[in-house]
Parts: sequence; structure tokens; C-alpha cells
Amino acid sequence: MQNIKLSIDKAFGFVSEQKVAGYKEQVALASAALHNGTGKGSDFLGWLNLPSSIDEEQFTEIETSAQVLRENCEVVVVIGIGGSYLGTKAVVDALSNSFEWLQATHTSPVIVYAGQNIGEDYLYELQELLKNKKFGIIIISKSGTTTEPALAFRLLKTQLEEQQGKETAQKLIVAITDKSRGALRTLSTQEGYKTFVIEDNIGGRYSVLSPVGLLPIAVAGFDIRRLVAGAVKMETDCGPEIAFENNPAAQYAAVRNELHKSGKAIEILVNFHPKMHYVGEWWKQLYGESEGKENKGIFPASVDFTTDLHSMGQWIQEGERIIFETVLSIKETNYTKIFPETEDNLDGLNFLAGKRVDEVNKMAELGTMIAHIDGGVPNLKIEIPKLNEYYLGELMYFFEKACGISGYLLGVNPFDQPGVEAYKKNMFALLEKPGFEAETKAIKARI
Ligand code: PA5
Repeated sequence: MQNIKLSIDKAFGFVSEQKVAGYKEQVALASAALHNGTGKGSDFLGWLNLPSSIDEEQFTEIETSAQVLRENCEVVVVIGIGGSYLGTKAVVDALSNSFEWLQATHTSPVIVYAGQNIGEDYLYELQELLKNKKFGIIIISKSGTTTEPALAFRLLKTQLEEQQGKETAQKLIVAITDKSRGALRTLSTQEGYKTFVIEDNIGGRYSVLSPVGLLPIAVAGFDIRRLVAGAVKMETDCGPEIAFENNPAAQYAAVRNELHKSGKAIEILVNFHPKMHYVGEWWKQLYGESEGKENKGIFPASVDFTTDLHSMGQWIQEGERIIFETVLSIKETNYTKIFPETEDNLDGLNFLAGKRVDEVNKMAELGTMIAHIDGGVPNLKIEIPKLNEYYLGELMYFFEKACGISGYLLGVNPFDQPGVEAYKKNMFALLEKPGFEAETKAIKARI
């Protein structure tokens, strides 16, 4: 069986192989700190051995609950923000038909998202769409008090109860939250919702392989056992006993830190398949929240090629030389499409006739890589054999493990996010939330 494969050799024209190899000791220390729980943020390491710890009972409980929503809903609204929805959206988008919404019939409920913004028009349009539809809700919030999901949940819960009655609504709402604390736990107990627990030691951005991701992914009709099996494979292949040279998480963490040291302040995650857009969004949260602190950290960006070659391509090719790119390369597509010949050949494309569309895409990928290397952009590549649950599981665990190691190499706590509180404090002060009187006074004096 193939696995996802990391290639870092195209970075060696920019940083030396010896320098990257020189990270061996530091990576071993970082990895040991993770596995022994002796590093910063060690009370948030529940994700580390999570894939291999999921047992039959947990799978069955998730699948049973997913089945209730699958049988009773045309649409399921996943309410959550940040780590509470990005992993699900990444997997569901990557595996779904690109035009799922427009299909005449659906074998699974359509998944839509709320609570990831405060857009009034978004919520209005969502509620209009849900009118007279059989819908259910998965509300995900570890704290239970995050404003965006709490606001969306209040609106949608009320709508569901009005449309289907309180008793039916109670069966169509599933809450994923802290095991004992928080407003959502209290409400769930009061209303009798089915609940799943986000363990204390798993932060939002490392939670995709917990019920946070597994339940909605199962509702969407995807095989969560294969997703987890892929993650288990990477748990082994990126484990502490695997030698530095053969350990993809160790290699990735080392090379990106060396590139950073050499002046590359931005890493761009590149895909050549539109379905991978949200894998980029998930990855940005994982690395951005984990590393961007104490005035440190590589800035994580993402682009969809070839689309963005017609916009950001210019900057990447010739802008300030502070970037490197990591390309997600999908080896085999799920379908085949052969390019046809035409008699008049007006568009001049007959030289492509008989070729697969993916062959054109692959040459775009190769041509871009060579152009970017020539333009001063180091290139890392992760080859994904095929877009399916198993390889996405491998990919996500690989990135999580590498992120933990990379954060420790950088010297930060990769498991906290103190910076996300600043905007909340100001927003509450401006909204005159009770308890924020002093902050309200102070902020109003500044505007
Ligand atoms: O990674 C994180 O911890 C954050 O992105 C959280 O997931 C996000 O803020 C949502 O928090 P909560 O699940 O408490 O609503």
C-alpha cells in the first residue's frame, strides 16, 4: 500500500542538506517532549495517540448517532468556528462531488455551516433556505460560550423547534462539548440532547479525529474508520522511534524551520485540485494558531492552482523572496476525462487531443514548480496517492504531528492561542457586555 510521501530535495538549492540533517538532535528532543509530556502545553496532548485509541464502541456510538441524522434530515447544519468546523469542512469538501448541492437527489444529507462568522445576510439566507426543510443541527463548542456559534445556535434551534416541534427538534440536535463544564453542556443536559465529549486535553485545531470531526463526516456519508486508519498509519510512521531520516513529520518540521531561519517568513500551501481548498484553510489554522506567537512563526498562506496562478502567481514568481511553498500533489484522480479533438482546431488545442485533463494539470504543476524554483521559491512536495478518507487521515495526522514538533523547535507553546482573546475583549466591551464596564469605558474613550 502506498502512503503520502514528503519530498524536500527541491529545498536543498536554498538551504543545505547538512543544515537540515543537523536538526536530528533537536527534533528528537522535541519529539521526546511531546511523547513524555514534558514540553510547553503538555496538558493538550490528547491528539497525539488519539487515532490508535479510538475503539469499536466509540466508532459505533458515532455511527449510530450519524445514522439518526442521515435518516431524518435533508440538511445538517454544523455549527462551530475555528477548530470546531474546519477539519470537517476540509474532509467533506475534499471527498464530496464538487456540485453536490445541485444534484437532483442526495444519498446523504447536505452539510452546511453556521457559527463560523457573524454575517447577518449569511444567517438570514441560511434560515430562508432551511424553511420547510427537514434539517438537523450539530453544535460544536468546547467552551460553549464562543459568540459566533452561540449566536447561530440560538437562531437555528428556535427555527428547528418552530418547524418540527420541540420533541422532534430535541432528537435532531447533537451537541459536542466539554464533558462537564460550560453553557452548552448545561443546555444539553437540560434539553436532553445526545452529546459527545471534547476531551480537556484536545484543543480545537487538533480535534478533527475526535467526535468534533468524525460525527459530521459520518453524517456526510464518509468512512470515518478509513479516515482514522490512515491517521493510525501516520501515528506509527511519525512515531518517536522512527529515525529522523525516515520520519516525515520530523523532516517537514526540520526543513520548514531551516527555511524560516534562512529568511523565508511565509509558507504557502498549494493545491492543484479545487476540492482541497479547505484543507488549506484547516492547515492555516493549525499552523497559524500553533506557531504565531511571541513575535515568532512562519505566516501560513494557501493558494488554489492553477486558479490563483492568474492572480497570486505574479507575486509568488517575482515578489519579495520571503516565501517557500508546500505542494499537495494528488497522484491519481478519481475519474478520467479525455480531451477531444475538433476538426477546425480553432482554439489550437488539438495537440492535447487524446490526453487526460489531469495530464495537463500535472504538467502545469511540474512547470510551476520549476518556474518557482527558478524564481527563488523553495519547493516541498507532499504526494497523496488518491483523494480518499484513508489518505486524508494520513495527511491530517502528519500535519498535526509535524506542527507539534515544529512549534517546539521554534520555542513556542504550540497548543495555546492567547492572541485570539484580544478581539473578543474589545468586541464585548463595545457591545457593553455585563462585566465589561471598565473595558467599555476605556475603549469608548479611544474612538
Ligand atoms: O483551535 C482552537 O482552539 C480555536 O479555533 C477554537 O476551536 C475556536 O475558537 C472555537 O472554540 P470553541 O470550541 O470553544 O467554541
